Amino acid sequence: MSRAVAIETIKLRKTYGTLAAVDDLTFQVYAGEVFGLLGPNGAGKSTTLRILITLLRPTSGQAIVLGHDVARDADLVRRLIGYVPQERAIDRFLTGREHLLLLADLYHLPKDEAQRRIPELLKLVDLEARADQPAKTYSGGMKRKLDIACGLLPNPKVLFLDEPTLGLDVQSRLRIWDYVRQLKARGITIVMTTNYLDEADQLCDRLAILDGGRIRAMGSPAELKAGLGGDIVSLTIGAEDAGRIEALATALRVLPMVRAVTAKPSGLDIRVESSEKALPAVLEAANRTSCRLELVDYHRPRLDDVFVAHTGHAIRSEFPETEE
Ligand SMILES: Nc1ncnc2c1ncn2[C@@H]1O[C@H](COP(=O)(O)OP(=O)(O)OP(=O)(O)O)[C@@H](O)[C@H]1O
Ligand SMILES: [Mg+2]
Repeated sequence: MSRAVAIETIKLRKTYGTLAAVDDLTFQVYAGEVFGLLGPNGAGKSTTLRILITLLRPTSGQAIVLGHDVARDADLVRRLIGYVPQERAIDRFLTGREHLLLLADLYHLPKDEAQRRIPELLKLVDLEARADQPAKTYSGGMKRKLDIACGLLPNPKVLFLDEPTLGLDVQSRLRIWDYVRQLKARGITIVMTTNYLDEADQLCDRLAILDGGRIRAMGSPAELKAGLGGDIVSLTIGAEDAGRIEALATALRVLPMVRAVTAKPSGLDIRVESSEKALPAVLEAANRTSCRLELVDYHRPRLDDVFVAHTGHAIRSEFPETEE
């Protein structure tokens, strides 16, 4: 059975001078799903979102939202969608309720509809108690909740969320995940960007892994993990042996049971068919290259392993990493 498509992009491309911020993006978002764009800083997530919400014109390619071309029918598209930007546009002096009232005016929402929807939205995001205090007194999580209420005011069929939980504490993040699930349950299609692996894993029905403006992999989190197959053996190597990590990586790459090796500052991630079969040879190679192992861990592929396998690097790193 084919599923209804809410959004489709075909070879979407946006360049700034010689930089391709997004390049050759072709994907579909199904009606009613939560679709994620997962990638590190500068991957092209916000650029993609801004094209879909008609704020940016693509250099080439096409994007269709609910049957309408974003470049040709921008006005139509705008009437059907909601958008929560990455950078909040909250005025510090207005109260939460005043923000929503102001937006209702901008959207030309009929008065009685605004009177009905605003308390509903404040309730949905747990801001009733603080609704009449200036937004400058809100915590980061509360401001984000107000952002989401603003995005929902026009009663959109599709909601675009740019980094909905960036920089929030664990509890606020869980609350926002909860809202997203509630919105999905109401039948709203959600497209969100994130650079949090756990968020993509927990919340998204399907996701596209974006790096350097291109899609590196796409599918449900379960499909992406299953697609790697095998196991991941992760070695942590003592700081005094850090200079020998490359030699160990080279020794491992020639082993028949090793599929790929990624070096990190603290050790190595090794993709193998089966950790039970590969471990003896891995340990032997460490011994041979005089790398003292501080920790050996093995597990089924996780989303971070999927990211590394398709991009050659970790999604986030404190230090530069060497690529496979
Ligand atoms: N107006 C612009 N002019 C020039 N370059 C731009 C412009 N907007 C974005 N870029 C570049 O395009 C690339 C993609 O940017 P984008 O904001 O889409 O990334 P992102 O994935 O949203 O990153 P982040 O996680 O930091 O929000 C980056 O290299 C960025 O510097
Ligand atoms: Mg961004």
